[in-house]
Amino acid sequence: MELIVAVSEDWRIGKDGNLLFSIPEDMKFFRQTTQGKTVVMGRKTLESLPGGKPLKNRQNIVLTRNEDWTAEGVQVCHTVDEVCKAVESLDPSQVMVIGGAEIYRQMLSLCDRAYVTRVFAQAPADSFFPNLEDKSDWKLESQSEEREHEGLRYRFCTYVRCAPAGKE
Ligand SMILES: NC(=O)c1ccc[n+]([C@@H]2O[C@H](COP(=O)([O-])OP(=O)(O)OC[C@H]3O[C@@H](n4cnc5c(N)ncnc54)[C@H](OP(=O)(O)O)[C@@H]3O)[C@@H](O)[C@H]2O)c1
Repeated sequence: MELIVAVSEDWRIGKDGNLLFSIPEDMKFFRQTTQGKTVVMGRKTLESLPGGKPLKNRQNIVLTRNEDWTAEGVQVCHTVDEVCKAVESLDPSQVMVIGGAEIYRQMLSLCDRAYVTRVFAQAPADSFFPNLEDKSDWKLESQSEEREHEGLRYRFCTYVRCAPAGKE
């Protein structure tokens, strides 16, 4: 599995159910990187999407512990193991974990590549992502040149796992 996330300078990712930054090039990068793939998200992230609707042109898997919860166009899973079973026949590069914080925390160890948009700004937040720069089992593979949108500087970074992905 792979993951995609946008983080602030200190690896924060959201506030009050919303993203911290709105950068059109980053939205485009997200669309292009996830297009045609299976995306895995938490119920709160689904509800934060426009209209609370699943992403088009992608197979949407949503994690919830609520056995009664359903949504149109969504495959519901109730445990991380259930997600793993649902995607086991797929090429791992075709499965993207897209958040939020709870889901990243539980699934990071199952991912072997992370597309991280690093925005060099701070913002108040209540959701966080582990700082991959501090993790010995992850290393920076490549990064784009620095870009800027309305005064926000950012880079597209790709981190890869050095040790094989698997349960901690
Ligand atoms: N910067 C980024 O790239 C990015 C990306 C995505 C999201 N975000 C932000 O992250 C924030 C949302 O993150 P969050 O941590 O609050 O919510 P979340 O991870 O999107 O969803 C949490 C929900 O997922 C379900 N869940 C979690 N673990 C589960 C498990 N093991 N088995 C079954 N269900 C499970 C539960 O749903 P139930 O309560 O229904 O049981 C839980 O309440 C928002 O601010 C959003 O904008 C940022």
